[in-house]
Amino acid sequence: MHEETVIQIAKTLFYEKALAKIDGEFVGALAAIPGKAVSSDLNYSEIFIRDNVPVMIYLLIEGKYEIVRRFLETCLRLQSEQFQTRGIFPTSFVDSEGGLVADYGQRAIGRVCSVDASLWWMILAHIYVQRTNDLEWATLPEVQLGIQSFLNLILHPSFRDSPTLFVPDGAFMIDRPLDVWGNPLEIQVLLYGALLSAAGLLRLDLAAKGYLNQQNQVLKPHLNDTAAELQIYQLEYAIAWLVRLRCYLLKHYWVNAKGIQMLRRRPTEQYGDEVMNEHNIQTETIPHWLQDWLGERGGYLIGNIRTGRPDFRFFTLGNCLGAIFDAISPNQQRSLFSLVLLNRSSLFGQMPLRICHPPLDDGDWRKKTGYDRKNLPWCYHNAGHWPSLPWFFAVATLRHKLHYNQTPADSASINVLLQDTYEVMLQRLPQQKWAEYFDGPTGVWIGQQARLYQTWTIVGFLLVHHFLKVNPDDANIMDLPSLKSLCSLKFLSYEQELARSSYVI
Ligand code: GLC
Repeated sequence: MHEETVIQIAKTLFYEKALAKIDGEFVGALAAIPGKAVSSDLNYSEIFIRDNVPVMIYLLIEGKYEIVRRFLETCLRLQSEQFQTRGIFPTSFVDSEGGLVADYGQRAIGRVCSVDASLWWMILAHIYVQRTNDLEWATLPEVQLGIQSFLNLILHPSFRDSPTLFVPDGAFMIDRPLDVWGNPLEIQVLLYGALLSAAGLLRLDLAAKGYLNQQNQVLKPHLNDTAAELQIYQLEYAIAWLVRLRCYLLKHYWVNAKGIQMLRRRPTEQYGDEVMNEHNIQTETIPHWLQDWLGERGGYLIGNIRTGRPDFRFFTLGNCLGAIFDAISPNQQRSLFSLVLLNRSSLFGQMPLRICHPPLDDGDWRKKTGYDRKNLPWCYHNAGHWPSLPWFFAVATLRHKLHYNQTPADSASINVLLQDTYEVMLQRLPQQKWAEYFDGPTGVWIGQQARLYQTWTIVGFLLVHHFLKVNPDDANIMDLPSLKSLCSLKFLSYEQELARSSYVI
């Protein structure tokens, strides 16, 4: 099929079949375009927050701002106000007999709550405001209240002092058991992005209310503005959290050839403040496949850190987001891209991109997933191939090129990789009915239980096309407020401000 025809087909499917209306207006897209056998579609005809991430980015690029605003507002209306879950956003929602029914995990298979949905809402809200400059929306009391109750949920005392979010198995894109409980990478990187976004939106509101001056000083209100006081307190606290989270990620998740050799030789059973092996990790947990996988120049963020049980699997989305949100440094981003190039055959195969590598093998699959039929080795979340992922890799590499220097050789190899990825998608996706995922070590087989006409497969393709062929500069669309700019804020008390201004007078 001719390239233009495929693009036209994808656009028609998206705009005419996947986008859904509520009360007569478009609000978001269904996870998959319903087939004839409706009963087998489970909840795929609902509007998922995570599946709508590429959808909203695409609509912003297309200038369809009102739909994005309506999506964000609909989700905001559904933010939980229950005592135990106050501040969380639903996994998905659907229009049922004129009312909205949302799933916070209480209806999902296995009753899993998607922690990533709440984190993504903050990030999407920031991306929307940045792209549209809709300050009026950003400073609406209900938007700021939504941010506040999200921050209340995250920034509170708990039983642990690490800055990570501890979640059950399957709390993100991987929403079935796959031994990803604890501190999975994707959640931590999304937390980093969500805190940056929330802090950026708080800063905007404080500036609009006159609490931020030209010298980047935040002036604490003297009396009577308890709302601003809380905002300033949360902003300061969120920035401190971000600093700790980033240090934690770089210290405990980032690995490369040199680092791994140090990890293997660390002492164990240490106790006290100054130790080298905080999580008491034994050398035997460090797998040998890392030798080839890392090569000389490669580096990546590992999948999880838990006491004595690190998870060295490579998770594609968490790593791409680590680069996109600048949680890892520009140098580390280059090491990550080298690693991807080195392991191209594993990660890209016949259908980009593998969701994680390597799969849990047969024994682990049995013990750790509870015989989960969808997550068999090389299938679905357990190292299956997902065409909804390559656009994230395209954004990570293209925005790196926009912001930082890249050697011409690296840049050329990445370019070839991206072009090849686009060609594979262009050839295979329309033939294989825009399937949700692909199975097997090379991803050549359509997923055993894959939905067809999956929305994020269709939109993911349109995004890769846009970033590669139409406007690579749009790869900065997911830029978040930089930690450096947030750290440069100075928080002054009213008395300090008074002293300062009387001195100037
Ligand atoms: C599957 C995926 C999940 C996605 C949902 C709807 O459950 O694992 O990430 O949100 O389908 O497409």
